[in-house]
Amino acid sequence: MITGAGAGIGAGLARYAARELGMAVVLADVESAAVAELREELTAAGARAVDVWCDVRDPAALEQLAERTAAESGPVRLLVNNAGVEQFGYLWDTPVANWQRLVEVNINGVFHGIKAFLPRMMAEPGQSWVWNLSSIGGVSASPLQAPYIMSKHAVLAITECLYQEVELAGHADHVHVQAVLPGAVASNIFESAGAVEDGDLAAAEDHRSAMLKVKAAAMDPVDAARVFFDQAASGEFYLRSQGFVGDAMSARADVLTHRRAPVLPTGEFTVPAD
Ligand SMILES: NC(=O)c1ccc[n+]([C@@H]2O[C@H](COP(=O)([O-])OP(=O)(O)OC[C@H]3O[C@@H](n4cnc5c(N)ncnc54)[C@H](O)[C@@H]3O)[C@@H](O)[C@H]2O)c1
Repeated sequence: MITGAGAGIGAGLARYAARELGMAVVLADVESAAVAELREELTAAGARAVDVWCDVRDPAALEQLAERTAAESGPVRLLVNNAGVEQFGYLWDTPVANWQRLVEVNINGVFHGIKAFLPRMMAEPGQSWVWNLSSIGGVSASPLQAPYIMSKHAVLAITECLYQEVELAGHADHVHVQAVLPGAVASNIFESAGAVEDGDLAAAEDHRSAMLKVKAAAMDPVDAARVFFDQAASGEFYLRSQGFVGDAMSARADVLTHRRAPVLPTGEFTVPAD
């Protein structure tokens, strides 16, 4: 079960899971055409896939999806709470509606997914996995995308607490919780990102352009999926697409250890060689 499966990382995970691992995939997204096209591509290649319209902001939609999937396809072995959106611009220029959308998709969407699917996973004895999409941004600070960075810190915290709660409730032997931290993976997230309507429009758009340049050097989503599945299979908790995500985690630990104030990044954003 992959939310936000219509593009980028979600689509890469779906392609890898269906084609390389032989998994049956449920492709959930608000972009119906995108998931229908991906479903056609996968089934034409002999893989098992269904597409479904689902807005992760709606708790009832996730509950219905969990119910329908259990009835029609059986137990979900891997839930990927992947749907996410970006937002550029100064925090004080951010439209309230954009802030709310981001919180609803990136944070509430993960919660609704957990609430709909986790009890079913815990209630049946099979092995199952839950992956929540945090980010390299979940262990760092970065200007001109504060709502996004905030949401990715939140998802990481949710995932760490969930890991503990599954153990506390006695289900860690069969329900496995893992945090996914992509670094730079080719996707549509920067094109579809929200901007600002008032204030410093140029700062927001310059940041979008800088991030779009990063996309050119970003990892292929199917390659990223392979890395995530391999790390998950070896029991890692923090699934990292690239080595520099681990470096960012170490840098974060160092900042906190030495209680250093955040440092403003300088120069162009680049994707470090791995
Ligand atoms: N691409 C990267 O380098 C990168 C880095 C770090 C973290 N991430 C995280 O990975 C996840 C996937 O991002 P991506 O880069 O592949 O983005 P993307 O924009 O390519 O794909 C996101 C998908 O989510 C869908 N979506 C948006 N709102 C939705 C909603 N309300 N309900 C259901 N689906 C919805 C979109 O239609 C789209 O198909 C996000 O959570 C993102 O924060 C991505």
